[in-house]
Amino acid sequence: MLYDFDEIIDRRGTNSLKYDFAAERGMPADVLPLWVADMDFRAPREVLDALRDAAAHGIFGYSDDGGGGGEAARAWFRREFAYDPQPEWTVKSPGVVFALATAVRAFTAPNDATLIQEPVYYPFSGVVTANGRRVVSSPLVIDADGRHHIDFDDFERQIVANDVKLFLLCSPHNPVGRVWTLAELQQIGDICRRHRVVVVADEIHCDFVWDENRHRVFSTVADFADFTVVCTAPSKTFNLAGLQTSNIFIADAGLRRRFQQALRVSGYSQLNQLGLVATESAYRHGRDWLTQLRKYLVANRDFMRDFLRRELPVVKMTPLEGTYLTWVDCRPLGFSHRELNDRIIQRGKLWLDDGLIFGKSGAGFQRFNIACPRATLAEALNRFAGALAKDN
Ligand SMILES: Cc1ncc(COP(=O)(O)O)c(C=O)c1O
Repeated sequence: MLYDFDEIIDRRGTNSLKYDFAAERGMPADVLPLWVADMDFRAPREVLDALRDAAAHGIFGYSDDGGGGGEAARAWFRREFAYDPQPEWTVKSPGVVFALATAVRAFTAPNDATLIQEPVYYPFSGVVTANGRRVVSSPLVIDADGRHHIDFDDFERQIVANDVKLFLLCSPHNPVGRVWTLAELQQIGDICRRHRVVVVADEIHCDFVWDENRHRVFSTVADFADFTVVCTAPSKTFNLAGLQTSNIFIADAGLRRRFQQALRVSGYSQLNQLGLVATESAYRHGRDWLTQLRKYLVANRDFMRDFLRRELPVVKMTPLEGTYLTWVDCRPLGFSHRELNDRIIQRGKLWLDDGLIFGKSGAGFQRFNIACPRATLAEALNRFAGALAKDN
């Protein structure tokens, strides 16, 4: 069947973080939200049917994975990424951020250093500092085309100088939209192995990879599995974030034991029943929906790129290799941090993510979530251009 991603679905009044909490978060009531990373699209039809059936059954008792959800996820990764996680590697978690926090407690001691690459999804530093550990960043560097790269000399220097124990890899990278190449992943792995650094690869955006780029599960790049935790979830791919399920794959028995012990300490045990139903159905039946969605998202990306080139050429949109989150360099406008945000929020009535929350090197950037109907994106871009026009 054909899906209509142009349909505008009113999400207000659904406890939506994106749409229902503007005032609580200091935003104007009539703000247009393109911030938090969920999509304004309905999940695949089969998922909705499965959830309807589960609701009609009417009993929402304690649940666990009888094999269906985990196996559907593993089959997906075998087919899409030639990655073959085994049933015993699978550790359930309510979310990837929860898993990142668990990994910090499992693999580091208080005050130990964890490495991240700013600008990066802000909970990466959040879960480290909240657990009383130290954040060390090896910032990404930008080339003349606005593409971000790893400074491998600095990456290794930071590991050695700070005795880093854990590296949180964002692959594909939110917010800079990079899909790391095989060579880059190989080099990351070689360095981390040399210095006995555990790698937690957050691959939640792995199904959104554009053009000729290809996602590689980190532990398939080389023999990296014995120091790697792979974090996956159906939540970004199929728009199920509110159902709180993710699959963490840990091949190494020692790392898995430590991770599971940290999980026990948190008191987490059973899965969300409806999350399990949705996960199984999405991974089994969601391929066609995803194929159509990908085309739509690529067209949104190109629409945004062309719009900015035409209407606001002074700002630069970072080439988007993966994810549905665009990263826009507003520094050439010359506005202070405050003026930039005031214009966007107060004049434009637009709710984006301020680049600074992703780390110091994100200052002057804005992140757009383009997983919305084209008409919504067009409205947002018109507001953006209007708010930033110099004569305003
Ligand atoms: C890189 C990355 N990891 C994790 C998450 C959130 O994962 P979860 O909702 O499973 O905690 C997001 C959401 O935007 C993300 O971009």
